[in-house]
Amino acid sequence: EIQAIIFDLDGVITDTAKYHYEAWKQLADELNIPFDWKFNEQLKGIDRMASLEKILSQLPDEGKSFTLEQKQDWATSKNMNYQLLIEKVDESEILPGILDLFHDLKQAGIPAGLASASRNARTLVRQLKVEPFFDVIVDPTSVAQGKPAPDIFLKAAEELGVASRYCVGVEDAEAGIQAIKSAGMFAVGVGDADTLSDADYIVAETSQLSFYDIRRHFVG
Ligand code: BG6
Ligand code: MG
Repeated sequence: EIQAIIFDLDGVITDTAKYHYEAWKQLADELNIPFDWKFNEQLKGIDRMASLEKILSQLPDEGKSFTLEQKQDWATSKNMNYQLLIEKVDESEILPGILDLFHDLKQAGIPAGLASASRNARTLVRQLKVEPFFDVIVDPTSVAQGKPAPDIFLKAAEELGVASRYCVGVEDAEAGIQAIKSAGMFAVGVGDADTLSDADYIVAETSQLSFYDIRRHFVG
């Protein structure tokens, strides 16, 4: 039986994936580096610096000649773009079906955790007013390795006091599904079935997420 559900934030609870894309796009344009939706897929779930490295690796010299300070400035600049874009996010931007799912979990007595790689996650959770639905919010700076490593999902399970095999993870990114699977959990993917093919159960949109359907598919 399922004993806990651990959620990603960006692209699962709210469509901030599009704001991350726009914020990176602004920086990439300034640096004259090609950047499109397809490339952005690889950045989903990946932390800020690792994302920047992937973008810079497109440059002929592999971007290796940049100082750490320069890279930190670019990462900060992306984050400033992002923070401007999310300034007005409120509960109207919670994705369809998510609040129903949260209510069903509460009713079933299933605790929920948040395992977001974003250092802006707590701000967004507050703006979206979904704080009361989470028993645990993992601080991404407290884990050694970002997704696709399992660390953040394992930390969430540990803080919830639930063994991995009784946990379900919900993700919209390939790196996230890999993290859930490496953590030994049941992976629910939201989005494109080809991109998320390693997931145990996939829905195309958040509106199709239902606790009862997940429970029916769950193998733990
Ligand atoms: C993840 C997003 O949730 O958080 C990534 O999918 C993002 O796109 C990462 O890079 C880190 O976010 P932040 O807000 O700390 O730069
Ligand atoms: Mg995501």
